[in-house]
Formats: sequence, C-alpha cells, structure tokens
Amino acid sequence: MDIRNFAFELYRQSLDSAADGRRKELPEELSAHDRAFVLRLVQTTLRRQEFFKKIAARYGARKISARPDAAQTALLLGMAEILYFDTPDYAAVNSYVALAKKKSGRFAGGFVNAVLRKICSDAKELSALTPLPFFPPAFRKMLTGSLTKTEIDAVERASLTEPPLDITARENPEDLCAALGGTLLANGSIRLTNAGSVRALPGYEKGAWWVQDFSASLPVISLGDVKGKTALDVCAAPGGKTAQLLAKGARVTALDISAARLQTLAENLARLRLTAENVVAADALKFLPTAPKFDIVLLDAPCSADGTLRRHPEIVHTRTAADVAGAVPLQQKLLTAAAEAVKPGGTLLYAVCSMCRAEGEEQIRRFLKNRKDFAVAPVSATDICPFAPGEAEPLLTKDGFIRCRPDIGAGMDGFFAARLTRGADITVEEKTDTYYN
Ligand SMILES: C[S@@+](CC[C@H](N)C(=O)[O-])C[C@H]1O[C@@H](n2cnc3c(N)ncnc32)[C@H](O)[C@@H]1O
Repeated sequence: MDIRNFAFELYRQSLDSAADGRRKELPEELSAHDRAFVLRLVQTTLRRQEFFKKIAARYGARKISARPDAAQTALLLGMAEILYFDTPDYAAVNSYVALAKKKSGRFAGGFVNAVLRKICSDAKELSALTPLPFFPPAFRKMLTGSLTKTEIDAVERASLTEPPLDITARENPEDLCAALGGTLLANGSIRLTNAGSVRALPGYEKGAWWVQDFSASLPVISLGDVKGKTALDVCAAPGGKTAQLLAKGARVTALDISAARLQTLAENLARLRLTAENVVAADALKFLPTAPKFDIVLLDAPCSADGTLRRHPEIVHTRTAADVAGAVPLQQKLLTAAAEAVKPGGTLLYAVCSMCRAEGEEQIRRFLKNRKDFAVAPVSATDICPFAPGEAEPLLTKDGFIRCRPDIGAGMDGFFAARLTRGADITVEEKTDTYYN
C-alpha cells in the first residue's frame, strides 16, 4: 500500500473541499500507525506550504501556485518528510520522485528529484528555521480590519504547531483529569498533549467525555445553571454544545439542516448516554417562524471557521474575505429568526468560530440596533472560568462578549460569543450608551 499516495490525495482534497466542509476520509484498511503518519504529513505540509514555497524558490523551482499542481504537491510533501520526519533522505526522495512521475510524468519526476536533492543537502539548516510565513496574503487580508498586524502575526506564530487536545467531561472534570493525566483548564476543560488516537483514550467508549476546544466550551458554560430549562440548539450538529446543555440538565431540542451531520450528533449523544428531547432535521429559517418559545436559544452559526485554523490548516489556504462576506447574510437571517424563539426573559446565545468582527461583534451590533427587546448580558470572568477567573480576563471584551484567539494564554481556537437577554423595556439609546460607547 502506497501511503504517500494517500497523503497526496488527502492533501489535494483538503485544499479542494475546505470551502464546502466535506469530510475527508482515509480508507479503513490503513493501520493506525499509517493513518497517524499520513495525517501528520498532510497537516505539516499544509502548515508549511507558504514557507516551503519560499524555500523552493531559493532552489530554483518555478513559482508554486495557491493550488499546487500534482508535481508541486509531491515536492511539498517530500520537503515536509525530509525536513520534519525520520525517513532516510534517499527513501524520501525516491518515493516522491516515483509519485510525481506516476501523477504527472517523467519531466515532473526530474523536477522533484532536482529540488529535493538540494533540500536534503541543506536539511539541517532549513529544518531549524522558524517556518514562516504560514498565512498566504489573501488570508492575512481577510483578517485585516478585525485584527491589528501585531495580532495577526501573533495568531500566525501561535498556530504553527499541532495544538493539544481539549476535552469536556460529562461530569467530575477533576477526577477525569487525574485519570487521564491531563491539565485542568480554568473553565473545567481537560487538556492533553500528545494524546494519540482519541478512541483509544480511557473513558471514550463509556462516554465520559467528548472532544471540544477550550474556547468552544465557553458559551454554554456562561449560561450557568440550566437544569430543567428548555433549550433550542439551532445549528446543533455534530453536537458538542448540545452535549454540554444536556450534561447540565437542560431539556434540549437539537436542530440542524444536515441529516448527515445529525447522524453524527446522534452517534455522539448515544456514546455519551445523553438524550435530547427532540432532534429535528430542518432548515432553521423554515422551522423558527412557527417554533415554540424556549428559555435558551443557542445559535452556533455557520461561519468562515477561520478560528479553527490550528487544527484545520487548509483553512488559511482556502478562506478569503469573500467567504466572510458570503457567511454574513445567512448569520444575520438566522439571528433574526432565532430571536423569535426566545421567551421573554430568556437568553439568546450567539457564537461563531471566526476571528472576523463582521461575523461577530458587527452582527450583534446590527441585531441590537433593530431589536429593542434584546440587550447584552455581559459575560464575567467567573461565569466562564470558575476554576481561575483571572485567566478569563483577556477573553472578555469591554462589551461583555467572549473573544478568543490562538495567541491568548496557553492557546485556543479563535471564537466569538455574545450572551443576550430578551426583555421588554430596553430602549435603543440605553443599549447604545451601555455597550458601544
Ligand atoms: C458551527 S456548526 C455547529 C457546531 C455545533 N453547534 C457543535 O457545537 O458541535 C454549524 C452548523 O450549522 C448547520 N446549518 C447551516 N445552515 C443551517 C440552517 N439554515 N438551518 C439549520 N442548520 C444550519 C450546519 O449543518 C452545521 O452543522
């Protein structure tokens, strides 16, 4: 079995499918060892693509395009294996020359051979360099306007290596943390480094925990005690936040437009021994206008997902400002529709795994301008990080929103969340004065 061929295919699929969120699967027959090798090779290459382009140019390779062609893909994967893996140089060069020939002909093999041999000669020096840039110009441009240049540089540096694995415990995070040998984070998440295969970790089969980044766990934690409350999770699949609500005792209706993703949600909840009151496959824009009212409505809206770039490095090569602009109108419609399902006195929780203000702060500002009956319920440090409130301070904006970035603290996904309450007597002037001046 040619595992480098799987890496080649997965790499190209990652760059093609990132925009539409299709899942990238490796064949079942791949052993756990080979699977881990392929995934690490592809992720490393995606994280180093811009850096490798710069190096390849130094060695006389023609310009590598944003979507590398077959020969360029073989070259990039070969560079990653030579610089960051233990494979003997001759074996790596031979493998990628053969791969390039198979995919693109004899000439491509010659090109890959010439460049990789030079890389081998200078491998010690090259592998010791800080592998920047990570972000291509279009991705930087997308973040400009939301983050300063210094912040973009910091996010880029903080995202250069594989992140640790964060998990949320169904109950007793301290005990589980001790059993797993992890670190208990300020919000109660457990952080594991070099975790290996998720399914092989203790407690997976018994449903004692689920994978969820530190930042993604914060919105539901900010709700405090939800026991017995009714909650509508408008964009629920694959179910990380639904599971949190259920574990805290809420009565949850989980809604999603994607039946396939809801199937994953159902499998996840079954493993966790958690049960939603209702699971609904529907377009929220059709469901919400006639929906009953809930104590809590959570809208974890579809977005550019740029905040997940540490675990999905293909995102930096595929997302542009056009993706943000494309996501905003649907988020706006979903927010307007979701508001209708909130009981008076209830809570509307809006979240996106995006670092762009257009998908976060600006959505909420626009919404509040039009909805006199909603106001921000500012999130406090103890709301989200009861185990160490001091660590939450950098995550809270002056308006009381949650704003996470990979370069903050010990690292986390980029994320935004706003907690809003529905009342009846709040004027536009009051809201503007309180939260936006
Ligand atoms: C960010 S993901 C949700 C993640 C989920 N809340 C969690 O914590 O695991 C966004 C979800 O929105 C769903 N979605 C997109 N458009 C929708 C619509 N019009 N109605 C309902 N769900 C929608 C997608 O299928 C996707 O599962």
